[in-house]
Amino acid sequence: MRRLSALVCLLVTLIVASAEKAPRARLNDGNMIPILALGTFGSDEDRAKLRQTVNDAVEAGYRHIDTAALYKNEEQIGEGIRDVIQKGLVKREDLFITTKLWNDRHACEQVVPALNESLSKLGLDYVDLYLIHSPGSQRADGTYDYIDYLETWIGMQEAKKLGLAKSIGVSNFNSVQIKRIIDNCEIVPAVNQIEVHPALTQEKLIPFCHNWGINVMAYSPFGFLVSRDVTDAPPPRIDDPILENIARKYGKSTSQVVLRYLIDRGTIPVPKSTNKERLKKNIDVFDFQLTPDEINTINKFNKNRRVFDTSYWKDHPHYPFNID
Ligand SMILES: NC(=O)c1ccc[n+]([C@@H]2O[C@H](COP(=O)([O-])OP(=O)(O)OC[C@H]3O[C@@H](n4cnc5c(N)ncnc54)[C@H](OP(=O)(O)O)[C@@H]3O)[C@@H](O)[C@H]2O)c1
Repeated sequence: MRRLSALVCLLVTLIVASAEKAPRARLNDGNMIPILALGTFGSDEDRAKLRQTVNDAVEAGYRHIDTAALYKNEEQIGEGIRDVIQKGLVKREDLFITTKLWNDRHACEQVVPALNESLSKLGLDYVDLYLIHSPGSQRADGTYDYIDYLETWIGMQEAKKLGLAKSIGVSNFNSVQIKRIIDNCEIVPAVNQIEVHPALTQEKLIPFCHNWGINVMAYSPFGFLVSRDVTDAPPPRIDDPILENIARKYGKSTSQVVLRYLIDRGTIPVPKSTNKERLKKNIDVFDFQLTPDEINTINKFNKNRRVFDTSYWKDHPHYPFNID
């Protein structure tokens, strides 16, 4: 009887373990990162659903969740994390949680307290990845501040040394800013999280990061496939005939082709959805692979066009988007 229950336990463990859908890649500090993450930035309505979304996502095989202090949803994500652990779907160590330091906490001595606030909201004692959300600091009232991100990075290194963040990285940094960190740091960033999609292919910044051993997380992966409330949205849209042609070949949708395109370029896409069916679809991208020709075809959509309006930042000395 005891043997039988041990066997059942083992089987259950195997089934649960095999439910992890995205393979993992090694970061430059040795830690392993699932190569697709759940995006969580959204409306108040999305936030209200987020506890359930985390449950649905983990059941669908997601293990990596991307949030930020800015999104004001770390509490809801924490509730979802507690649910899935209590249900026995996963253990804490199976999950990979990324959060980000907001721009108004860039002083070196503010980093660890800001991370502790995020941890307390998430109900965790460490995050797997902590990112500087953007190189440009600002005051709490939203006006520009001028704290050097090298100073912020010292605080990030401290967070890693204290074990509060297993890995540390940056977001929205350009190649010059990253090189400046590399030249002055003790710990090289493990990740740069940047906007990448068919209308913004980042063909210089991605290889630059990879050459320095830095993984790239691709945010807003659907670009203008989905509605962004802009009148002059560039192609491709969700029914683009070129993408549809590729999708037909693999029995997939155009949105899945775009996620696969990002994976095949060695990036980690961060698709956001609060819809159970779309969540499942977005992680069902590990049974096909695009050819180099198909990747080149999608690269041709590039217009260097960003989904988010960054004009507020353009006069900031650390504005990152004027160079690759
Ligand atoms: N580091 C940064 O500065 C930064 C900036 C922006 C975003 N991010 C991160 O990246 C994540 C993703 O970016 P994003 O939210 O801008 O955009 P996204 O993931 O490219 O697109 C999200 C939109 O696509 C819809 N959608 C999701 N799956 C779909 C599918 N299979 N077919 C059709 N529509 C689909 C979603 O609606 P439903 O929810 O209704 O499915 C939502 O409207 C964010 O949530 C955040 O975690 C980081």
